[in-house]
Amino acid sequence: MQRKIILIGCGVVGQGFLEILVKKKELLDAKFGFEPLLVGVADMRMGSILVPEGMDIPKFLEHLKAHGTVHDFPAEGATIGLNSLDLIKEADADIMVEVTFTDIKTGEPATSHIKAAFEKGMCVATTNKGPITLHFKELCQLAQRKNALFRYEGVVMSGTPIFDLLEYCLAVNDIKEIKGILNGTTNFMLTKMEEENMSYPDALALAQKLGYAEADPTADVEGFDALAKVVILSNVVLGGSIKPSDAAERVGISGITLEDIRKAKEEGMRYKLVGSTRIEHGKIIASVKPVKLALSHPLAGVSGAVNALTFTTDLSGDITIQGPGAGKLETGFAIMIDVLNMHREM
Ligand code: HSE
Repeated sequence: MQRKIILIGCGVVGQGFLEILVKKKELLDAKFGFEPLLVGVADMRMGSILVPEGMDIPKFLEHLKAHGTVHDFPAEGATIGLNSLDLIKEADADIMVEVTFTDIKTGEPATSHIKAAFEKGMCVATTNKGPITLHFKELCQLAQRKNALFRYEGVVMSGTPIFDLLEYCLAVNDIKEIKGILNGTTNFMLTKMEEENMSYPDALALAQKLGYAEADPTADVEGFDALAKVVILSNVVLGGSIKPSDAAERVGISGITLEDIRKAKEEGMRYKLVGSTRIEHGKIIASVKPVKLALSHPLAGVSGAVNALTFTTDLSGDITIQGPGAGKLETGFAIMIDVLNMHREM
């Protein structure tokens, strides 16, 4: 069945999603009866285009590679120049994919995009942490009122499944505590600093080049990104309603030097940026901070732009999942699985 899609934000993640649609076209159709029709794209830097008859996705990707622009993609019957909100209002689409840059302080412009899509009854898939960190309950209520589906698998651990795992495989369990490595950039940097003696600025520059870091990498290195994920897990999984400012602690890795890492290594230890949340006497206790772990600790072996999370459950004990925490195809896949699951549920 054909599903009309609009893409809001056409950076690394948006392009990763489109590449997967191209790469898996036959399989998506043959196995899941899913035929994507891309009817609009809006990007703050690259412009916008609305094409009711649908765009040729491989040609659009070639155009992006050659020109780095959206608005001048040659397509019959195209409307150009709409801002993202107007494009959402004008578009006749089943699904909006929202992958604009994350602003953890305001949640904008993504929150307004998501509300506008729900108002039209569109389903939404997003990897944007801002709206889920700050407005999760409100957005879920609006989606429900408008009978729209809402999925956000990629906001924590990118393409490594967390929310689907909890919703299906770990259902019925009480989750008591969640703890792990939640930021790919800092884990990548700490690994490079330890294994290759790479300087902090060089390791950060490489993480940016590889597309792991946030638009403003301060969010990664100062722990704000990991904290947003801890807040999301606290509210979505533990049923809390906390804000980032409610966290007990938020410390990043900017204070960790090559010398600290070397000394820790001599002691048989390794630094990791650890995020955790648990319920204590009915209250959520959330934090993010660098922790020196013994090399034998399971989290100490997690290297590169990889994340790992342990769920402490009442029925199944501790369940740990490890996998990619950032990256173009990895995060594009998170959108892919959300879109596919919505297609199956529609
Ligand atoms: N900047 C984030 C990270 C991207 O490095 O983990 C994925 O949320």
